[in-house]
Amino acid sequence: MVALFYLVVLPTSSAHIHGRDAGASTRIHLDKIVVARDGDVRMSAWPGELKRSGEWVSVSWSGASASWGDWVGVYSPADADVTVTAPIKYKYADEFKDGYGKLWFRLTNMRADYVFHYFSGGIDKPTLIASSNRVTFANYNEPLQGRLMLTGVPHEMRVMWTTLNTTSPQVKFGTSPGQYVGSVSASTTTYTRDQMCGAPANTEGWRDPGLFHSAVLSNLSPDTRYYYVYGDPAYGFSEEASFMSAPRPGAASRTLNIFAYGDMGKTTQHWNNEKASINTTRLMIKDMQAIPMDLAIHIGDISYAVGYGAQWDEFHDQVSAISTRLPYMTCIGNHERDFPNSGSRFNGTDSGGECGVAYEVRYPMPTPGRDQPWYSFDYGSVHFVFMSSEHNFTIGGTQWQWIEADLRKVDRTKTPWIIFSGHRPMYIDSNYDKGDSADQPVARELRRNLEDLLFKYRVDLAFWGHHHSSVESCLLVGAQYQRSCPVFNGTCMSEGQATTHVVIGMAGYRLSTDIPLTMPSWARVVDVSENGYTRLSVTSSRLEMTFISDVDARVKDHFVLTK
Ligand SMILES: *[C@@H]1O[C@H](CO)[C@@H](O)[C@H](O)[C@H]1NC(C)=O
Ligand SMILES: *[C@@H]1O[C@H](CO)[C@@H](O)[C@H](O)[C@H]1NC(C)=O
Ligand SMILES: *[C@@H]1O[C@H](CO)[C@@H](O)[C@H](O)[C@H]1NC(C)=O
Ligand SMILES: *[C@@H]1O[C@H](CO)[C@@H](O)[C@H](O)[C@H]1NC(C)=O
Ligand SMILES: *[C@@H]1O[C@H](CO)[C@@H](O)[C@H](O)[C@H]1NC(C)=O
Ligand SMILES: [Fe+2]
Repeated sequence: MVALFYLVVLPTSSAHIHGRDAGASTRIHLDKIVVARDGDVRMSAWPGELKRSGEWVSVSWSGASASWGDWVGVYSPADADVTVTAPIKYKYADEFKDGYGKLWFRLTNMRADYVFHYFSGGIDKPTLIASSNRVTFANYNEPLQGRLMLTGVPHEMRVMWTTLNTTSPQVKFGTSPGQYVGSVSASTTTYTRDQMCGAPANTEGWRDPGLFHSAVLSNLSPDTRYYYVYGDPAYGFSEEASFMSAPRPGAASRTLNIFAYGDMGKTTQHWNNEKASINTTRLMIKDMQAIPMDLAIHIGDISYAVGYGAQWDEFHDQVSAISTRLPYMTCIGNHERDFPNSGSRFNGTDSGGECGVAYEVRYPMPTPGRDQPWYSFDYGSVHFVFMSSEHNFTIGGTQWQWIEADLRKVDRTKTPWIIFSGHRPMYIDSNYDKGDSADQPVARELRRNLEDLLFKYRVDLAFWGHHHSSVESCLLVGAQYQRSCPVFNGTCMSEGQATTHVVIGMAGYRLSTDIPLTMPSWARVVDVSENGYTRLSVTSSRLEMTFISDVDARVKDHFVLTK
């Protein structure tokens, strides 16, 4: 069985690591980079100035006799030292055998200019032989990365965005398009290299994140569409976006439509682990045109920047068509938080040195305090609870006490549904059972410490993500969808008696095949075949959940809970 597993799996996995598709810039050996410009090679980028974020640039060169592994790296700021700074992204250029070639890149405005460098020698021993002209943006203060968040206070909405500089950042809003009767000033914050806990976040992955502006709109009328722009009178405002304010609190709210998923990330050229995320994003944007969506919840492993700051910019860029229209509520995952000796429950380096700081500044959720990323909020007939599987959740500890008190307080006449989420799963069909942070030991630990609370307080649904693999997790880490029966202590119960657990870590990260041959008795659906996302439709008496495929938008799983 084990031998067979190796035989089947290793060829493709080693291709992931050594092949041309190697994902992260970490694979580029910066310490081996040599700069030896070749005067015969000419390289240029066009256009040299971009009006807006997201425009495309063509990069062409001549005089380079391409050999296997040649690549073009995309750097920003243009004067970044390539021997100590990772590229934002890169593409192979070695199919251009005639000495000249052309590649296209889409550039996100990251508040600085860009340059393209041509490297021979592959990513193991790169030699920089030519550079393009610089590409600039007309406005480095273009307000970008717009996102909405609930604050935990009814009738409020937080709006956040990013720029380079600031004078008087603000949100203008109203209930008719183009008619902004209200305005709210934003407060501004950022984070610094010193706040990172380690590499690559404070070394080759560091990039100035710009300024984060945050404005809270308050006293909003329920069930009302608001139109808004964000920006700064000195630098300009965003395009208009709109959102539906929260429903009237309580059980009689409108039908809620909610996206839920984990482990999404972004699709950046040659950061290939989360290729599927672009499909997920596109399908959700399409859904939003047909369905009155209310809320997005992303339960951990948000951007997979893992210490490469520019990848957060790429992620916000990718999801902004969603996050400027729906409150984007997040739960922390290992790739946001974990770093040795930094206070995380698990000692891995999964956050690439960010140790939760980049995440917390970008997604200020209504948590009890700094580095205590657990919180709850009511939305219509649902009480949502988000825990951190990346912090101590032992019975009697700070987080456990908070969860117990929160669940105890829920008024089921107001919010008949409780949906509980964490990143690492409490129930999981997985072979990965070796070591402190493996799927099964963590699931057992979660059940030992928290399952009694879920049972006692009749939590209806629990969402988890993260499913990882058994053999060598760095090779086979993957995502998938799973659904349990209503289960307590490993035993199926009748509906309404126990929690239905759904693993929804399939939104972007590459798929895992790491499941045992026999499904555990509590498992109802285990689907490792396609990426996708889920939608919930909730009234006070009926909750419907649908898993949609990233491949062709068909329904892959569907179930209903009733009260
Ligand atoms: C941003 O602020 C810095 C420091 O005040 C200033 O030097 C620079 O010109 C400003 N740039 C833009 C594009 O606003
Ligand atoms: C993305 O969508 C296309 C169809 O638009 C499909 O062919 C492809 O398989 C999808 N990719 C993933 C990873 O789901
Ligand atoms: C994390 O590592 C530190 C030192 O390397 C050790 O003291 C601590 O026990 C480890 N924690 C866990 C949960 O393994
Ligand atoms: C977790 O918290 C519990 C309860 O406060 C404590 O006894 C335990 O030592 C903590 N575990 C770690 C690894 O810090
Ligand atoms: C949970 O199940 C185990 C056997 O699988 C049993 O020994 C234990 O008593 C059960 N615990 C509760 C609280 O029902
Ligand atoms: Fe994870």
